[in-house]
Amino acid sequence: MDARADQSTTDLGPLEEFPEGAFRVMRVGKREIGVYRSSSGEVFAIANFCPHRGAPLCKGPVGGTLIPSEPGELVYGMDGDVVRCPWHGYEFSLHTGECLFTGQRMRAKTYPVSVEDGRVRVSGIKSGEKK
Ligand code: FES
Repeated sequence: MDARADQSTTDLGPLEEFPEGAFRVMRVGKREIGVYRSSSGEVFAIANFCPHRGAPLCKGPVGGTLIPSEPGELVYGMDGDVVRCPWHGYEFSLHTGECLFTGQRMRAKTYPVSVEDGRVRVSGIKSGEKK
């Protein structure tokens, strides 16, 4: 892919090249990120690296999770906002990268994304940045 970069944002290409409901994994500088376009139109960017043991996080499914609820209740929520790691199943927020597994303090790296003039742009990655 041809990611043109400056110091603050990187143009990832036209929005129509990002299919709904699937990750598109791409390299920006020395980072490998997954860009996910939800059916509601939100676009997320998250490192393709699980902070637990290094799995390719973006090979995991996106869905929801069980959210805090009353004792004896199971309440499903956050649908479309959570990626589940393909190796051990830890769940991470696509918004913040926070690990949603109780007691875990790890966080996957996320990047701000915007859509301007029909093009997807990501911030926070320099083209020459080292891992
Ligand atoms: S490597 Fe992702 S949960 Fe273990």
